[in-house]
Amino acid sequence: ALKRSYSTKAQKHIERPYNYVQPHASYKVAILGAGGGIGQPLALLIKMSPLVSALNLYDIANVKGVAADLSHCNTPSQIADFTGASELANCLKDVNVVVIPAGVPRKPGMTRDDLFNINANIVKTLVEAVADNCPDAFIHIISNPVNSTVPIAAEVLKQKGVYDPKKLFGVTTLDVVRANTFVAQKKNLKLIDVDVPVIGGHAGITILPLLSKTKPSVTFTDEEVEELTVRIQNAGTEVVEAKAGAGSATLSMAYAAARFVESSLRALDGDSDVYECSYIQSELTELPFFASRIKLGKNGVEAVISSELQGLTEYEQKALEALKPELKASIEKGVAFVQKQP
Ligand code: NAD
Ligand code: LMR
Repeated sequence: ALKRSYSTKAQKHIERPYNYVQPHASYKVAILGAGGGIGQPLALLIKMSPLVSALNLYDIANVKGVAADLSHCNTPSQIADFTGASELANCLKDVNVVVIPAGVPRKPGMTRDDLFNINANIVKTLVEAVADNCPDAFIHIISNPVNSTVPIAAEVLKQKGVYDPKKLFGVTTLDVVRANTFVAQKKNLKLIDVDVPVIGGHAGITILPLLSKTKPSVTFTDEEVEELTVRIQNAGTEVVEAKAGAGSATLSMAYAAARFVESSLRALDGDSDVYECSYIQSELTELPFFASRIKLGKNGVEAVISSELQGLTEYEQKALEALKPELKASIEKGVAFVQKQP
């Protein structure tokens, strides 16, 4: 049974005062793409975590200044910077959690899949280095299209003989963060209490909020369900259009990614009450990768909460069936990308 809203603990952690110190903090985190729009605020939020003792920042450029700047914050973690491929191996040594937001973001008019040609190669190269240098780490993939980049990462890890499906995560936390925010606004609920599971994938109709499973229990009219579902599915595009060519969500993404990192660290630290939604290798449906609520433990995914897929409304059931062909194609595209290479 889920004892409490699975978001609350992680949220509380990242809302702590800047100088909060927990003495047993000892985890090492690396961000690959740390100089970017997500990487920088994410580094700041992770620098504030009491569970982190070392934070390694890697990018192909512009990471030295970010590291110098962050290193002046009087929180426990040590900051180190690594620039370019020749420093990547050192960046990854003894790392417990690797977060990958490297790659290009969307501009108005683009789909996430339009990023495939550039980002597939970036993710493949970075995950090869992870496989060689810290194969036991939890790997958090943010780079889009997540529906394909996670299968790419899995194939790379398989080829390297180090794939542990329990430790590879597509970060879909932003979909949950958005769903919680929009539902709380619409129904006048206290934000910290709201918990909406989001399943499927991370693009358009593959993003499926299960509004009927919202905690605390709340009823929606058919119009509200339609309006909220479409808003959650298009929230990324809402930001891309508002930024008008200057990129996609970075600040809310950093917030969401920091929450997922914090949850992973708490799980590594022995907390037995850590739940998040994530896009993982899954047997929940006939698709090999699928986002759903999971329980996190010391070894990664400890359980998939299958009960949430039971008793769906007719609307959710139809949306689930409708998303499968698109998600399947994105998974197959990612797998083929790695398998077709010599
Ligand atoms: P950005 O362009 O601001 O930053 C990307 C960073 O990646 C840059 O600093 C760049 O130098 C770096 N980079 C490029 N190639 C690299 C390589 N080979 N190795 C290391 N670093 C490399 O973009 P952003 O706004 O930070 O977005 C990054 C990615 O995250 C995009 O693909 C975007 O679509 C995705 N994203 C995902 C979610 C999600 O919910 N999963 C949300 C928002 C954005
Ligand atoms: C998001 O959901 O904000 C990200 O996937 C970025 C995007 O391209 O929409």
